[in-house]
Amino acid sequence: MSPLVHESLPMRFGTEFITAFYRLLRGTAHYDRKSVIIGRLTQDCLQVINGIIEWEGNLLLKIIGEYFFFNNTRMIASADRYLIFRNLWRELRKRRIGGIEFSEQVTGEHLQELAYLLSGLEERSENNYLSVEKELEQRNIKSIEVGKLELLKDEDIDCDSEGQKKYSKEVYFRCLGLVREVVESIQRQKPLPIRKAKRLMQNAVNAILLDDSTLLGLANIKNYDEYSFNHSVNVAIYAIALGQRVGISKKNLFHLGMAGLFHDVGKAKIPGEILSKTGKLSPEESSALRSHPVIGTELIMRMSEWGELSARMIEGAFEHHLGYDLSGYPRLTQKKEVTLFGRIVAMADFYDALVRPRAQDRFPYVSDKIVEMMLERSGKEIDPGITKVLIHMIGVFPSGTLVLLNTNEIGIVIQGQEDSGLIDRPKVCLIYYEDGEYRKEKVADLTEMDGVSGEFKRSIAKTLNPNEYNINVAEFFI
Ligand SMILES: [Fe+2]
Ligand SMILES: [Fe+2]
Repeated sequence: MSPLVHESLPMRFGTEFITAFYRLLRGTAHYDRKSVIIGRLTQDCLQVINGIIEWEGNLLLKIIGEYFFFNNTRMIASADRYLIFRNLWRELRKRRIGGIEFSEQVTGEHLQELAYLLSGLEERSENNYLSVEKELEQRNIKSIEVGKLELLKDEDIDCDSEGQKKYSKEVYFRCLGLVREVVESIQRQKPLPIRKAKRLMQNAVNAILLDDSTLLGLANIKNYDEYSFNHSVNVAIYAIALGQRVGISKKNLFHLGMAGLFHDVGKAKIPGEILSKTGKLSPEESSALRSHPVIGTELIMRMSEWGELSARMIEGAFEHHLGYDLSGYPRLTQKKEVTLFGRIVAMADFYDALVRPRAQDRFPYVSDKIVEMMLERSGKEIDPGITKVLIHMIGVFPSGTLVLLNTNEIGIVIQGQEDSGLIDRPKVCLIYYEDGEYRKEKVADLTEMDGVSGEFKRSIAKTLNPNEYNINVAEFFI
């Protein structure tokens, strides 16, 4: 479970059902009914459903807004199940299915029918639920019902995955422009583009709720602009993505994004020579740099029109260098606990600094070493619960990692795996060398198995440094 949530029985049942049902649904897209894999996934899911029916009498999963409700309890995904929840939510929404109900125990055959019916549905067809109902009726399956997706007022509806990616990229680059504008406004003492910032952060939250893989990938591979600009955007993205995984509501995610985007706003008042200095700072320079959380807090406090939002933004700006164990700065005269927003922004800030491109490398890169480094600091400078959430979020191989597969193919990790048991099997964009450059091939899902042998088709053999191969990983994300 998330470090902030206590598990109840409906929460446990709901999580088990969502997980087993998603695995089965996903299996139907890759394997036919007779395959061993489908047989196993059906049995697993059947056990969960019939166990729940025996205990609760009924099983109803509904989508309302961004959440699942299981037998009327709002579900919150644990860090390791987060992507499973998100993907099932997305798959059902895409097909405009808003609910599934089992009113009595089912057979494996009926369950499989339902799974194949759902996965065969056309995307974005409003009457899908009617056609499933009809098919179920024809097969005399009375214990299963599906419902229509009800949209809340003002709810964004998804576009296809290509459109989604395009939208995410647009949001990222518009955020970069905005951060530049904010810094310039402060330096020239002009009013800040507040409304624009709010609108953009709302767009970022929407994009992340629908699919965070593109934005996380862009944030991981950072060489589009000056570090200080993309750092703020990345921290906002990581903070929203983490916040979502600890169950923060949409409205507060927007506040969290703003807190992330403005966490280093105080740096706009620090001389550029200090910020860009790579050598050791003098004691005076160091104390000037360390004043940025306080300066940032003052800047935000002056913006009274931000209302409730500014309180949250202050938590990000003031607390992001305090450290979980308060070993950082500013030094406090009285011990206090770092707020949740402060801890999340600090985590996002810490992670982004960790994957910052090194001066000696032509291309920045991420690797599996990151997780090791995070675990070393967990419980000291960084919050152990949120560290766990972050590691689940980025996976063992973060997006942007260059990998060599056991098939001798090379590729770039573009998306983590939803299933925590398969965390070392991400989706990889295969690349090949031709006419003096690397080109994109297909996307390989490393969880894909051979239908006959039941073995994985591809596995990661090792990670590579893109500088040794002259590969600019970022190009494969834009
Ligand atoms: Fe900072
Ligand atoms: Fe920072």
